[in-house]
Amino acid sequence: MAGIYLHIPFCKQACHYCNFHFSTSITNKHVVINSMIKEVEIKSRFNSDIIESIYFGGGTPSLLSVSEINNLIKIIYKKFKISENIEITLEANPEDLTLDMVKKLSLSLINRLSIGVQSFNDSELKMMNRSHNSNQSKNCIDNALKYFDNLSIDLIYGMPNSNFRTWAKNLQILENWEINHISAYALTVESNTALKKFIEKKIIMPLDEEEVYEQYNFMYEKFLSLNYINYELSSFSKEGYFSKNNSSYWLGKKYIGIGPSAHSFDGKIRSWNISNNSKYVKQIINNELFYQKEHLTKIDRYNEYVMTGLRTIWGVSLDHIEEKFGKKFSYNIIKKSKKFIDLNMLEIFDRKIFTTKKGKFLSDGIASELFIINC
Ligand SMILES: C[S@@+](CC[C@H](N)C(=O)[O-])C[C@H]1O[C@@H](n2cnc3c(N)ncnc32)[C@H](O)[C@@H]1O
Ligand code: SF4
Repeated sequence: MAGIYLHIPFCKQACHYCNFHFSTSITNKHVVINSMIKEVEIKSRFNSDIIESIYFGGGTPSLLSVSEINNLIKIIYKKFKISENIEITLEANPEDLTLDMVKKLSLSLINRLSIGVQSFNDSELKMMNRSHNSNQSKNCIDNALKYFDNLSIDLIYGMPNSNFRTWAKNLQILENWEINHISAYALTVESNTALKKFIEKKIIMPLDEEEVYEQYNFMYEKFLSLNYINYELSSFSKEGYFSKNNSSYWLGKKYIGIGPSAHSFDGKIRSWNISNNSKYVKQIINNELFYQKEHLTKIDRYNEYVMTGLRTIWGVSLDHIEEKFGKKFSYNIIKKSKKFIDLNMLEIFDRKIFTTKKGKFLSDGIASELFIINC
């Protein structure tokens, strides 16, 4: 089983916090898509996996027309073996999801929408430089729910001008709808972003970690009380609505990345496509190498397993570690976990290590202390 990730590298404008790969010029949109179609053909030649999820991510996939989306799906169906229960997600920005667009999408093979709401607070949206306001998001959710029940909403907490009150209000507004999946990310101040520059120049002051934790904790309690399952640090889902695409990353499954900057993983080798639209097109057209790759060592794969496992409800299995990496690795993790078990940040049951509620928010930091650096 494997997933396919399609990176649509275009956005209307640059959000101040974002360092994903995208271009704000859409003039060469159709050449990029044609090259992506060619990349699907190329990568299908070496692949016999059954595809269980297709994910249109970005950038802004909702800038494509429904016929462009359908052409990409069509070539995947033609070239790969497809699972009967395939999940096909489209990431969409609120201003693009008009009722007409949603209706057309519901007639395509897309069966899940992920909407980038980020916040319902207009001053937060302005600080983020989002290209929509809160009313557009509300209309868009109304539209989407008319045709899709498998709907996910993206939110960002810990924004510099947010506070406990504005975050609580955001979550309260969300209760107006029955939404089956929510991804809520702590703001990361990424390099090469406007936000990073504003903070360096002291134009904007970031929140301190305690305030961010307060927002996280409030959200965690609230979503659990509303019967969401926190199946991964940032992902909350009603029963039966876990994202197949995201779960495949966390469970270490294979994925095939298509498009500029897209990453792929075949179980041992990770590769990443060139993050430049014109160079990507040129190299695909000229049959030149358009990606770089690295072989993950056993230690790399172990460290990744620990990092992702601690973020999820599936935890880190000692039996899996012994089987895949050897006893030396399971001794390492048992020994290094002790400190965090005593601090009530980790717990072990059924030969699996999990983060407790207290440790969850710090899971990446804890994982890095459990890593093996040299063997
Ligand atoms: C890369 S975007 C693509 C989807 C779509 N263009 C959008 O903006 O809604 C996917 C999600 O990543 C999250 N994201 C991007 N940069 C982030 C950052 N620096 N900190 C936290 N979340 C971020 C946002 O919630 C966003 O919805
Ligand atoms: S958050 Fe989404 S819309 Fe904003 S720049 Fe990043 S990819 Fe584009």
